[in-house]
Amino acid sequence: TLVATPRRGTLIVIEGVDRSGKSTQAASLVARLNALSGAVTAVSMRFPDRTTQTGKLIDAYLTQKDGTDGDSIDDRTIHLLFAANRAEAMVQLRKTLMTGTSVVVDRYAFSGVAYTHAKGAAGLDIEWCMAVDAGIIRPDVVFFLDIPTDVAASRGEFGQERYERQDFQEKVRTAFLDIADKAYWKILDARQSKDALGEEMLHLAVTEILKTENKPLQPLWQ
Ligand code: TYD
Ligand code: MG
Repeated sequence: TLVATPRRGTLIVIEGVDRSGKSTQAASLVARLNALSGAVTAVSMRFPDRTTQTGKLIDAYLTQKDGTDGDSIDDRTIHLLFAANRAEAMVQLRKTLMTGTSVVVDRYAFSGVAYTHAKGAAGLDIEWCMAVDAGIIRPDVVFFLDIPTDVAASRGEFGQERYERQDFQEKVRTAFLDIADKAYWKILDARQSKDALGEEMLHLAVTEILKTENKPLQPLWQ
């Protein structure tokens, strides 16, 4: 007889421009999943992870608002650092998923591509940006919290960090929509109430978790 292997967890990624509500919804989704009766367990993860060595360099870069001090990390290098910050987390992520725990991730390689590409700098075309992250674990589903950038800009705290300008965020949103893969992206209306969006995401997440079954993990963009 066959011995049943435990089903793996589902990798759920939440993406969107700054102030689209990702962090709030990520926390809410993990809480809602764990509150369901049954054996669903979920944990959260976020990128950039500012606590690691690469994360500390990234944090310093992001909190330096405009880089006008001339001492900033160049565009190609910071892209590689963001990617390294994800790459170093893959062993732990794979382990967690394989023990049957689902993981809700606040930003992933799609942010990497969208923010770097939005800079419009020579050599930072979409293909190069994607190639750097190719091979990390492919999410089972991406929830894109879509919001007009003027609505995002009017939310609290916008403007505290590098990238938080509406004209730049508009380019980021366009880049996200350019790389959105219909096969596993869900474009959600992030203007709706926190609770309505939370309910919608819970429903979609549960459907996805049930579908994961014994599907093997796949590499992203390969
Ligand atoms: P953010 O999620 O806004 O962190 P926090 O919630 O702590 O403010 O991420 C910080 C910024 O980093 C955000 O503007 C998007 C940007 N970013 C990249 O440019 N590349 C990446 O690969 C990632 C993950 C984020
Ligand atoms: Mg932010």
